[in-house]
Amino acid sequence: MKAFNLLCMVAAMSGAPAWSHRPPVELTVWDRGGNESSSLLYGIMFEVTNQTGDGGIHGQLLRNNGFQGDEPGLLAYAPIGDVDIDQDSDNPVSDAITSSLRLSVLEGETAFVGFANQGYNGVPVMNETYTSEFWMKGDYDGNITLQLVGSTSGEVYANHNLTVHSTADKFTQWETTFNSTASPDGENEWRLLVDGYKVAGRSMNFGLVQLFPPTFHSRKNGLRDDVAKVVEDLRPSFLRFPGGNNIEGLEVNNRWKWNETIGPVVDRPGRQSPWHVPNTDALGLDEYMYWCEDMGMEPFLILWNGKSYDEILSGPDLDPYIEDALNELEYLTGPPDSIYGKLRVQNGREEPWKLTYVGIGNEDDYTGGCETNPERFTRFYNILREKYPDLVLISSTMKPECLPEELPKPLILDQHYYRKPDELVGMFDYWDNQPRDQPVIVGEFGARNFTDPDGVFWTFMQMACSEAAHMIGIERNSDIIKMAAYAPLLQHYGFTQWSPTMIGLDSSPGSLTLSTSYYVQQMFSTNRGSTILPVNTTSPFGPLYWGASKNDESYIVKLANYGDEEQTIAINVPETTSGRLHKLEGPKETANLPHDVQILPQKQEVDNPDGIYEVKMAAWGVAVLVVS
Ligand code: AHR
Repeated sequence: MKAFNLLCMVAAMSGAPAWSHRPPVELTVWDRGGNESSSLLYGIMFEVTNQTGDGGIHGQLLRNNGFQGDEPGLLAYAPIGDVDIDQDSDNPVSDAITSSLRLSVLEGETAFVGFANQGYNGVPVMNETYTSEFWMKGDYDGNITLQLVGSTSGEVYANHNLTVHSTADKFTQWETTFNSTASPDGENEWRLLVDGYKVAGRSMNFGLVQLFPPTFHSRKNGLRDDVAKVVEDLRPSFLRFPGGNNIEGLEVNNRWKWNETIGPVVDRPGRQSPWHVPNTDALGLDEYMYWCEDMGMEPFLILWNGKSYDEILSGPDLDPYIEDALNELEYLTGPPDSIYGKLRVQNGREEPWKLTYVGIGNEDDYTGGCETNPERFTRFYNILREKYPDLVLISSTMKPECLPEELPKPLILDQHYYRKPDELVGMFDYWDNQPRDQPVIVGEFGARNFTDPDGVFWTFMQMACSEAAHMIGIERNSDIIKMAAYAPLLQHYGFTQWSPTMIGLDSSPGSLTLSTSYYVQQMFSTNRGSTILPVNTTSPFGPLYWGASKNDESYIVKLANYGDEEQTIAINVPETTSGRLHKLEGPKETANLPHDVQILPQKQEVDNPDGIYEVKMAAWGVAVLVVS
């Protein structure tokens, strides 16, 4: 198709519209000539930052339930009635859960007494069915009452009795389900009460208390349904896990150890994560894989490759860890009669997991990883390539100085960046000049503003627009960019360690907040082309950015107005007549805050037999036109 004067064409076809402001930017979408686009382009990166594994997307709502991490103490527990409670390491629940909670009841007690767990700054109490579990040791035959109660109001939302027969010689496990009514706020606790008359003057032990609301796909030990559903609404194609810094650990010994995150939760010791909080690992390797399967995502598993934050192993010291990585892969993908495949079957999964994408470490261009990475990477790559020729292998950096001089093939390189909004927009053409024969992944990206004195903030319209402009740049290059993920995904308000994030929540009803960045990700991910199309125009990029693509059904035009002025865009998509226009618009600094959502996407039908669509964009707006 030859370049032509689009202004004349618009006038001729639609009868010289009276443009209210500046003349429109005119775009004509060609229907051939572009590059293919990766079908996996948009996905998610997840790690436990911001208390978002425990206390976030994982369904279990009670905190410090296994006394894990560096200094658990009685964090989140409180006595109910005339009792003493303490952490008792002489009565471990299991080899992994090395303490329990001792409940000592005073002489002469006659009432129901016990203890509360106050969750992650409260327990979300909804009009739902809950499942609760606990382990107990001590002679007791009779009723135990479980309650969900307002911590200061004392309002009881659920009150449920179960009969137990517990003995003093060992811990036994009890599980029950009950209904609750909804609490108006998040200030709630879970309570376990025993008949004080039966235990007066004695003590009993309790451990690994658990409380689950409905879980995604009703999985046992599953994800919180409400949180998982908004993640699913992003229609992500892949999940990069378990980190991020979380895979690395601060030292070698507290790296993410796959084999300590599998099997019954009572056998998982948990660890102090590099985000300086205890991690139960109830969200473990198999749970990540179920998450992928239930959302139809490709797992993108990161292997530990010798680099922790403050300690790096290389040379022969790496050998046992390479072996360990191979065991992990056998656990996931080996036949049921292989050593580790058998373990997977024991843990409830007969069929090998589907696994194609495997990353070798995280960010080996930072925290001292660069120097030894060429050697570490090569050793991992060679053995993985030999034993698993079908895996797609991904290096954790694309800096040449951190990689072997000659790159093995096939290989994908992963690069991460967090930038101020202007800088991210400045990277619009960053990928344009990359060699076309080297596939890459943007495993983490996002706009940050770095200006808030407390370092905590929520993404606002300008940031979302900068991400949209940058992602148009990514889409233009999605022949080589195979995957891209905004990060981090989630934050639990009150536990923020890294912000902004796409989604936030706390224990209060209605706190699940979808940021402006979330909506941009959703608009881009749910409207994907398989072929990128050239766009003809006389206008330069900036402050308006655009890109076009098509799939089997539609043509898609994505627009980001990264500027203070309204824009009018005349978009010619020949041989189309109608479709829809998605928009996200709002004042530059407006954010969706918890309990104060200001900006929601809008959708309108568009209809034009001429195939020319006039799109008006407010300042700081993102739009996606889908027509056929
Ligand atoms: O997403 C937050 C952190 O940023 C990740 O853990 C790490 O990979 C990156 O530096």
